[in-house]
Amino acid sequence: MTKCNRLIDAGRRQFLRGGMMATAGAAVTTLAGTQEAKAQAALARVDYPASRLGNIGELTENEPLDVSYPDDDSPGVLLKLGHAVEGGAGPDGDIVGFSVLCPHKGWYLGYNADDRTFNCPGHYSRFDAEAGGQQVWGHATSNLPQFNLRVDDDGEIYAEGVDELIFGRLSNTL
Ligand code: FES
Repeated sequence: MTKCNRLIDAGRRQFLRGGMMATAGAAVTTLAGTQEAKAQAALARVDYPASRLGNIGELTENEPLDVSYPDDDSPGVLLKLGHAVEGGAGPDGDIVGFSVLCPHKGWYLGYNADDRTFNCPGHYSRFDAEAGGQQVWGHATSNLPQFNLRVDDDGEIYAEGVDELIFGRLSNTL
């Protein structure tokens, strides 16, 4: 073998060794990335506070009661609708709670007792209180955040979570 061929052969072996090291490095990087992603997914889970929002005795059918959840900066309402609905709590399954910040740009929603919708004065989105806050019209791209409610034997109403992201937040708890 000539000197020139030996150099070419040595270069080829070096190239292959480098490729194997790069592949092994990529595998380690991918594994580390997967573990990091799992850790971040675990951190992304939100632990909600359980907060007392009111008592059944304070509610009048189809009249919103102002509350806030999961903290004082997040206005919402409790509503007793008079018949069982999606997400309804209490003995009749008719008590619901919603954020009243519009998911589009955060305007404060008003309640229309006639058709039981929340209405936005900003760009006129509407959300159905009897259908889990489903948007029925407008610019918003998500439904109205609904509180997960629990009612105890004394009629005390507790919120224990929210099913959508409240407007203006990266997380429902800050
Ligand atoms: Fe409510 Fe735009 S802020 S529709």
